[in-house]
Amino acid sequence: MSESPDPKAKVPEVPIGHDRAFMVELAPERTIPDEGMSSRAALETIQSEVILDGDPEKNLATFVTTWMEPEARMVIAENLHRNYIDHAEYPRTAEISKRCVRMLHNLYHGEGEPECPGAACAGSSEAVMLGALAMKWRWRERRKKDGKPVDRPNLVYGADVHVVWDKFCRYFDVEPRQVPVPKGKTVVSVEDVAPHIDENTIGVVAVAGTTFTGECDDLAGIDAHLNELAGKGMEVPMHVDAASGGFVFPFSDPDFEWDFRLKSVKSINTSGHKFGLVYPGIGWLVFRDDDQLPDDLVFYEDYLGEKDPTFTLNFSGSSSFILAQYFNFMRLGKSGYGQLVGVMNHNRATLSEAIEATGSLELVRGSGPVIPLVICKVKEGEVFTENELVAELARRRGWLVPAYQMPPDNEDQRIIRMLVKINQTRELVEALANDFTDSIEMLKTRGPVSHGPPPSHSATGY
Ligand SMILES: Cc1ncc(COP(=O)(O)O)c(C=O)c1O
Repeated sequence: MSESPDPKAKVPEVPIGHDRAFMVELAPERTIPDEGMSSRAALETIQSEVILDGDPEKNLATFVTTWMEPEARMVIAENLHRNYIDHAEYPRTAEISKRCVRMLHNLYHGEGEPECPGAACAGSSEAVMLGALAMKWRWRERRKKDGKPVDRPNLVYGADVHVVWDKFCRYFDVEPRQVPVPKGKTVVSVEDVAPHIDENTIGVVAVAGTTFTGECDDLAGIDAHLNELAGKGMEVPMHVDAASGGFVFPFSDPDFEWDFRLKSVKSINTSGHKFGLVYPGIGWLVFRDDDQLPDDLVFYEDYLGEKDPTFTLNFSGSSSFILAQYFNFMRLGKSGYGQLVGVMNHNRATLSEAIEATGSLELVRGSGPVIPLVICKVKEGEVFTENELVAELARRRGWLVPAYQMPPDNEDQRIIRMLVKINQTRELVEALANDFTDSIEMLKTRGPVSHGPPPSHSATGY
């Protein structure tokens, strides 16, 4: 009997219409290939690899927008090549960016009609860095004026903040005064932060919609305390990190005062690419008034005889996401944003009911205004863990659901968190709820398939 030929001995011919690089070779990993390939092969090589990623539409871990309308996608696709920073060449784009800043200033109850009280950024992280730098500069100016030392600035915030605040402190040489969240609590109050404020405090950060539970720090309490300090001649501004809340609370809880209605709030960041409903990356920094931005932080370029001011950490970047934000403002209006937040909260309630009905999970309900998310934990005495449950959900239908620890001093608490965004239609909520029920049933009867880490990340800040 003749031996069958070794299928790897000869690289096979590939059928018409397919490129051999894509069909029979591994993707380049370490060196730029000596020779190129067809554009079709390059496209297919990438597409075939990202298939192995999680599906963004089933990613309940991310705060970031995973669905936009076709017309919005047209705005994005058609403007990717328009470099935002080239204000002289693209003055209308620069003007549209300013309009978005002004609209947010107005939405956040800023007073007056400043020309551009803030900046477009790559996301909330860049907005945080710029806002915090402005606080540091202003603190330094005040101290120098009083003839006081400027070598030991600190920033006060709760442990419920996003990691970006620790990053700012490390990168820009500011002492991080991170206050633990008291045991049994999920956000910080004025009693927690007040003892840490002193004459070297450049500002206090409070979160409107935390990454952990979607709740808000005690903004009114902190504001009252800072106003009292101001009355005694100690000026300490508050910055509100409204990465998520900035596009939720103005619509879901219009009477909730978290923004410039609070006197000590001098700057706010928000992520256009979260509940602003734009694909990543776009974020916004909004100042209370023009006084908050020290002129020293603005760089002026001479451009064709005109002074062009810039206040950014990045330089070049696409205009697409700024234009897409403007698209959403016009397309949705305040009423549209309000209706969509209503839809998210409706589906959130439905998912919450289904989670409770499993009998094995208990809801962790935030108090006060909360962004549209569902948080639960496994009831005591159950035979499975949070990690085993999210691993089962991923195995069953590719759901990406994070399970993680609460911040200090509540590390003993593990929770499961699901964002309910606009792509989570009622049908998807139903499917997820059924998968929860079936996964729990399976874990109880069969036990976990694997005790390894779940295929989704187990940290919070996405
Ligand atoms: C409260 C908070 N602040 C800041 C950030 C960072 O935002 P971005 O991803 O837009 O840089 C996040 C991200 O989840 C967040 O939740």
